[in-house]
Formats: sequence, C-alpha cells, structure tokens
Amino acid sequence: MNLQAYLSKNKKVIDRALDKFLPEARSSYIAKVMRYSVFAGGKRFRPALMLLVCEALSGKVKQVLAAACAVELIHTFTLIHDDLPCMDDDDYRRGKLTSHKKFGEDMATLAGDAMQALAYEILLKETKGVSLQYKMRALETILEAIGSDGVVTGQVLDIQSEGKKISLSALENIHLKKTAALIQAAVKAAAILCGASTKKITQLDRYAQHLGLSFQIADDLLDYTSSFAKMGKQPGSDKKQKKSTYVSLLGKEKARQLMVKERDQTRRAISFLGKKGKRLAELADFVIKRER
Ligand code: IPE
Ligand code: IPE
Ligand code: MG
Ligand code: MG
Ligand code: MG
Repeated sequence: MNLQAYLSKNKKVIDRALDKFLPEARSSYIAKVMRYSVFAGGKRFRPALMLLVCEALSGKVKQVLAAACAVELIHTFTLIHDDLPCMDDDDYRRGKLTSHKKFGEDMATLAGDAMQALAYEILLKETKGVSLQYKMRALETILEAIGSDGVVTGQVLDIQSEGKKISLSALENIHLKKTAALIQAAVKAAAILCGASTKKITQLDRYAQHLGLSFQIADDLLDYTSSFAKMGKQPGSDKKQKKSTYVSLLGKEKARQLMVKERDQTRRAISFLGKKGKRLAELADFVIKRER
C-alpha cells in the first residue's frame, strides 16, 4: 500500500471515531455548528501521523485513537478561531464557508471552545488500554503545546508581526509555536500512550519539530501558488493580511530551499527507527509535495 492509500485508510478510521465521539447533530444547536467544521473535509494529517507513530512503536490503535481525535478537534478549533474577522478574516475553509460566515462569530467562537473541552474529555474517557498516568502525561503534553507558551503565543506573534519586517529567527519562532507545537505534541502524546522510552520520545519530538516547520513553510508557499479548488481556502490571504511568512521574507525560491532542508532533517531525525520508520519518513515528503 502506498502512503496516499494508507492515509485515506487512516482518515476513514479517524472520521468514524470522530462521528462517534461528537454529540449528535440533532442533540443541540452547538453540536450542529461543531460538526459542520469537523466534517468539512480536513486532511486529518495530525491524527494520521499519530496512528503512524503508534504503528512504528508497535502500539495498538485503541491506545491512540481517542487522543488522535482530540488533536484533530483542537486543530479544528484553532482553525475556526484563526479564520475569525479579528484574526485572519477568512471566508472559506475546507472548501466551505468558514464557521463564522455560516453561523455568526458568536456561534463559531463557542463551537471552538466546545471542541477544545470535548477534546480533553474524550482523551481521558475514551483512551483504552493505557494507564491513567500515561493518559495524564499525554494530556499535559497537549495542554502545554496549546497554551500561552505554544500555539496561543504563536498566533499572538503572527498577528503582531503583520506589516513588519521581522528576522528569520523571529519568523521561525512563530512557525514553531503556531504550527509545529501541536504537531510535536501529537507525536509525543502518541509515543507516550504507546509506552515509548524517554529517549525515543525525545528523538520523535525532533522529527516532529522539523516536520511541523516544513508543514508551515509549505502552507506559506501554497498561499502564493495554489488555488481555492485545490486547497479549499482562499489563496492570497497572507498577502491581504500583510503576514510575515517565509515567502514574504525570502521569496518563493529561498522558501522552497529551506523547506527541502527541513524535509531532509525530518528524514534524518527518524532514521533511528530503521525499517519501522518508513512511513514516517515518507510523510516528510508528503508534507512538502502536498497541494492542499
Ligand atoms: C492548516 O492546517 C493550518 C496550518 C497549521 C498550516 P491543515 O493544512 O492541516 O488543514 P486541514 O486540517 O487539512 O484543513
Ligand atoms: C495557522 O496558520 C496556524 C493556526 C491555526 C494555529 P495560518 O493562518 O497560516 O493557517 P491557514 O493558512 O489559515 O490555514
Ligand atoms: Mg493565521
Ligand atoms: Mg489563517
Ligand atoms: Mg496559511
């Protein structure tokens, strides 16, 4: 099975579990709002990554499935808030109107809040075959990544850097926090839930950091080069908002070179797994070659 087929198989597993964990659409208005964004057609990259980490470590799917859904819910919540008029002010996401365009800013904000709460609830209640101690460590890892030292600060700096000429290291810091932090937490949480050693967790963290950085550089490039039809979001959003990106700072060619360098480092970081890391190594290529 090639990676693409493998990812779509994993996507089905994740979608089925998300459908089970989310409240039924008819149960409340906010459940309908939440389901709209969750099932609008995301790539499910982070949960697929977690299933691949689990497989590489010879873990069982049931150990990471709820955590993988939790990370996807957190990711979707950050996207809903990222698109709000007070943030990036985007009208389309995952090929559909953004949550606030469809349901209003009040409901979109609240749906994001509810998703974040549900994420922690299902991680704790629905993770199977794992000790409470490991569940708590996984939870702690994700909480640290999302909060004021992670994604939130990444988003703060992203907004504060609009229209400014910032240094490359300042930009790298934004990308590490706003995007790589959650990808690192996803990988680390999966490794913890599968009982990996501290040494392996540290090595996987390095892998995920490079993967996350190349993921956001690719996103910056796609904003300049891809189309709505392919991405399901409006290209040119960064330019409109005067964002500091790898492309605005370095130009497309240099950005691409740095992305490839990150890809190489991603692949190197996973070499310790040998044959078992084959899919994770392939994922490094997928991230930089993707069109959406
Ligand atoms: C978009 O993430 C936001 C970034 C961190 C670049 P994805 O590219 O994973 O978006 P979906 O989940 O497929 O919609
Ligand atoms: C996304 O960065 C980071 C988070 C949502 C935390 P972007 O603002 O570049 O993501 P897109 O391009 O809107 O998906
Ligand atoms: Mg943004
Ligand atoms: Mg955005
Ligand atoms: Mg972007």
